[in-house]
Amino acid sequence: MDRNAVLEPVLAAAPVVPVLTIEDASTAVPLARALVKGGLPAIEITLRTAAALDAVKAVAAEVEGAFAGAGTVLDAAQLRQAEAAGAVFAVSPGASPGLLDAAADSAMPLLPGAATASEAMALMERGYEILKFFPAGPAGGIAYLKALAAPLPGVRFCPTGGVSLQNAPDYLGLANVICVGGSWVAPQDAITAGDWQRIEELARQASGLRSAA
Ligand code: 3PG
Repeated sequence: MDRNAVLEPVLAAAPVVPVLTIEDASTAVPLARALVKGGLPAIEITLRTAAALDAVKAVAAEVEGAFAGAGTVLDAAQLRQAEAAGAVFAVSPGASPGLLDAAADSAMPLLPGAATASEAMALMERGYEILKFFPAGPAGGIAYLKALAAPLPGVRFCPTGGVSLQNAPDYLGLANVICVGGSWVAPQDAITAGDWQRIEELARQASGLRSAA
């Protein structure tokens, strides 16, 4: 099975993957519905809260049109928990041998993180063609990612970390960028207030982003 071919259409479905931190699992379904309605079907729910796995489960089971993803997957155990919850993809800020071994045994595709040419090469050696570039801004941003394109053909990135509505078009203009990830489309105050209308509007704005090039 080619996991790149499974992951590609999920990440190519929209220019932005919302990165969510969900404290209350009961907010997950209306939040994901607002994002899907606004045009962002691939959703990363970070495993940073006690509610995260229940949130993944609920979105996977109840939100039509959503690709429920689990983020901040740091080890083999979390990868298995994400898959059992129904996640259709997993995201990691980096990569470790234990995580990659577990991913090799799993049907669920993993988007592992890389911030240097060496890290990207190690992942390419294990068959990965799509990587998260993290943390995109602090690691060197648009200029850095652009510089990786020529020596690393055949790999595309989802830059995440410091990406905003303002700089996303420049990232999306790079040939080696498949999409960007960001938390700006789902602000905590809007989630807490249950302001799904605002989140839908932010999603619509993000889904309409085009590359600056
Ligand atoms: C994170 O780790 O929280 C994600 O990379 C999102 O980063 P952002 O909040 O800068 O969009």
